[in-house]
Amino acid sequence: MRIAMIGTGYVGLVSGVCFSEFGFDVTCVDIDADKIARLNNKEIPIYEPGLDALVERNLEAGRLAFTTDLEGAVAAANVVFIAVGTPSRRGDGEADLTYVFDAARQVARVMTPGTVVVIKSTVVVGTCRKVAQIIREERPDTEFSIASNPEFLREGSAIEDFMRPDRVVVGAEDERAEEALRRLYRPLYLRETPILVSTLENAELTKYAANAFLALKITFINEIANLCEQVGADVQKVASGIGLDNRIGGKFLHAGPGFGGSCFPKDTSALAATGARHGAPLRLVETTIEVNEARKRDMATRILTALGPETTGKRVGILGIAFKPNTDDVRDAPSLVIVPALQAAGVEVVAHDPEAREQAEPLLPGVIWCDNPYDVANDVDVLAVVTEWNLYRGLAPEELATRMRGRSVIDMRNIWAGPDVEAAGLSYQGIGKPA
Ligand code: UGA
Repeated sequence: MRIAMIGTGYVGLVSGVCFSEFGFDVTCVDIDADKIARLNNKEIPIYEPGLDALVERNLEAGRLAFTTDLEGAVAAANVVFIAVGTPSRRGDGEADLTYVFDAARQVARVMTPGTVVVIKSTVVVGTCRKVAQIIREERPDTEFSIASNPEFLREGSAIEDFMRPDRVVVGAEDERAEEALRRLYRPLYLRETPILVSTLENAELTKYAANAFLALKITFINEIANLCEQVGADVQKVASGIGLDNRIGGKFLHAGPGFGGSCFPKDTSALAATGARHGAPLRLVETTIEVNEARKRDMATRILTALGPETTGKRVGILGIAFKPNTDDVRDAPSLVIVPALQAAGVEVVAHDPEAREQAEPLLPGVIWCDNPYDVANDVDVLAVVTEWNLYRGLAPEELATRMRGRSVIDMRNIWAGPDVEAAGLSYQGIGKPA
């Protein structure tokens, strides 16, 4: 099996590298020559634990290659994955499929007969059939197969998620496509991972429904957290209590500053737009989007309230800018709403993030960056934890208290124990905690 992976974004790069780790020959293609040169130099363009070692090993073994030569890679492959971006289109929230369709056209022009074209990008239901039509128009006389194979990996644990997924979802409607995907995922099947083979539409929709449900679950617990704060309950206790019910499950019930990242915000918008377009409105999903947007703004309001009526000239320390730990990704991160809202109120913002500074700096002008998390506490009136990096869990409250000018700590990820922080003479506000 020779694989061409078109697109070396998160999904394309991780999947390509992991398939090579399974022993398949993989050529990863991207139009960004600089990125390809860096990858060939074993420099990884994203922060993803464990990925560097896999790239190095498989490049050296000759099973993995990076190139800008789409034509060569596709002509040599029998399975071509399309894993290019599907950003949100401005205005209507629909996913922009231009890159997917362009890639499909280019693949069609150079593929050999019998190629299986697999869409790995997250695409709205109906896209795979459109891709097949595009390929047919380009090469009416050439046989090929189309398949859908959405990816469920999470940034920060992408390798583990690829290697040990809960399930693999495949949309394949002819024998050649099904056979190819079954062979590629055989190493997982042998580990007893369920491989669900179904229609193109079922596979496409499964991806969106999964992400929307997870986003909804987070948003639900965030609203329960608000209620906990009003009635003196503790959201972590409530989440454990409901999570032990197998029908609910304990994961994705951590209350926080709202979901962000490159997937949930974009995918919930695209799903809501798809529902509206098909006359099947998804009101829960629409509400989830609204509630989540409001939540990020509310986090800024909490900090401003703690600063008191006069905010101009005050100083706030932010621990964590990435949308979650173990990534340098800041796309749609709550911090990108919180920080500008503080600055707009005349607040000086000091921040630390172990990985995301480079990505965030151009997006957050005026922020003072620190290399050491303790320095973020220097002379601040309020200190807020926005991302739950492990590095912050062990910070000594006494040290923070000595450095701070004010006394208020807002822990938006519940990583600290309130009594410990209070014992250092600080006031502690968690999420969904009794006052
Ligand atoms: C998400 C899904 O979890 C993956 O299964 C999916 O493949 C991926 O999107 C995608 O579509 O490509 P990811 O965006 O990397 O993965 O990150 P998550 O770990 O799911 O976190 C998303 C957001 O939800 C983060 O902002 C995180 O802080 C927040 N979150 C997550 C909570 O606030 N509470 C939780 O309990 C869980």
